[in-house]
Amino acid sequence: MTEQESSRGQLWHGRFSSGPAEELMAFTVSLPFDKVLWHDDITGSRAHVNGLERAKLLSSEEAESVRVALSQVHDEFSSGQFNFAPSDEDIHTAIERRVTELAGNAGAKLHTARSRNDQVATALRLWTRRELTLVAGRVLDLVDVLVASADAAGWGKGSVYMPGYTHLQRAQPVQLSHHLAAHAWSLLRDADRIFSAIDRGNISPLGAGALAGSSLPIDPSLTAKEMGFRSAFANSLDAVSDRDFVAEALFNIALLGVHLSRLGEEWVLWTTEEFGFAKLDDTYSTGSSMLPQKKNADIAELARGKSGRFIGNLTGLLTTLKGLPLAYNRDLQEDKEPLFDSVNQVKLALSALSGMISTATFNKERMQLAADDQLMAATDLAEWMVRKGIPFRQAHAHVGELVQKSIQSGTSLHDLALASDLFGKFAAELIAPGVGVSMRTSPGGAGPVPGEMQRQQLELAIEVARGEWEDLLAI
Ligand code: ARG
Repeated sequence: MTEQESSRGQLWHGRFSSGPAEELMAFTVSLPFDKVLWHDDITGSRAHVNGLERAKLLSSEEAESVRVALSQVHDEFSSGQFNFAPSDEDIHTAIERRVTELAGNAGAKLHTARSRNDQVATALRLWTRRELTLVAGRVLDLVDVLVASADAAGWGKGSVYMPGYTHLQRAQPVQLSHHLAAHAWSLLRDADRIFSAIDRGNISPLGAGALAGSSLPIDPSLTAKEMGFRSAFANSLDAVSDRDFVAEALFNIALLGVHLSRLGEEWVLWTTEEFGFAKLDDTYSTGSSMLPQKKNADIAELARGKSGRFIGNLTGLLTTLKGLPLAYNRDLQEDKEPLFDSVNQVKLALSALSGMISTATFNKERMQLAADDQLMAATDLAEWMVRKGIPFRQAHAHVGELVQKSIQSGTSLHDLALASDLFGKFAAELIAPGVGVSMRTSPGGAGPVPGEMQRQQLELAIEVARGEWEDLLAI
């Protein structure tokens, strides 16, 4: 093939006298990563053909032959039979080339009143909407796993309890269900953020053309409706250059990733010999190539590790976007790899964590023993004094002295309280195993009374989220 001939493969060959340099193609092609958009490109093209037919820019025979060609292309992709040509720069040019091969002149009309700029933006919005819905589904699945574990640990009186920490120092006992639910609440916010991002991004850019719309009588609102978008764009420049929906997706995944990282970090700690709070199932843990005794929490570690990558993907995209004048610039092609990467990786992380947690077992005895550390009853002693009318600051000082005495003398806090004039028998009873956790009675607190209430609040929040998710699935 001569240069002249090979240039004919390019969609934009008309005003060029020579074909593209090899280095240009090597540097600018996006096909290797944007082929995942094939399905969404076809969805966009189907809507566009129908729009062209409505506008009488295609006869019904022409429209039909393009639709048939698009269906064949769809089948070729589904069955892995689609053949790419060396001139295919990206998935959009590849599909248009094939449609033109199949439908001839009618195929050559497919790009009427359309630019790759609105085409790419349309396909990417469709992909993002569908994939974020799947991400949200997996988020809700992990919420279910956490709530199931919380249910098994119990919410009411006599439920499993553990030390609650601040600064990773033992602070006050909390119910295990309360701790697990804390993560569920942050994940429910992630799901909610994803839902609202999907709604904000659910605007069709199709019909914006390269940047300014078209002189031909197309109706963007009808194609928008056909693709399940909330509406069509109001400003063509914005439509082709807006990547807020990608940035929001990446932020939502970055924050979700941070939540998974924190959860992962706890599981790394909990499964150590030192903590011994939980044990992983063999199917969700890994061994060491050298140390035969090792059982590692690699899923939890990678959940922590991937969060850096998610933040990097967000930072990279924002940096790409920040200097761009309106409207489309080729820099925008850089939106895809971080998006695809974050979506794919977070889906894997969510499923792996769900599997890991649902198959893990908690060591109730270890957790409760650690929570029965008498010093963790210190606040209960101070609050006992408050109930006797002593100002909290003074109560805090009295208990502080008792704690210091206990540490220095090696006498238990319980025995010291029992022997002290200030405290005595009733105060000492607060230091018995399992008592402390039941003392947290205020709404939203870590004890059994608010626990039962929280279970109902969770139920309601999950129901609302599941409802929104099902609405999205139906688009
Ligand atoms: N693959 C490109 C992208 O993802 C296609 C857009 C090219 N448009 C253009 N005007 N050169 O952004």
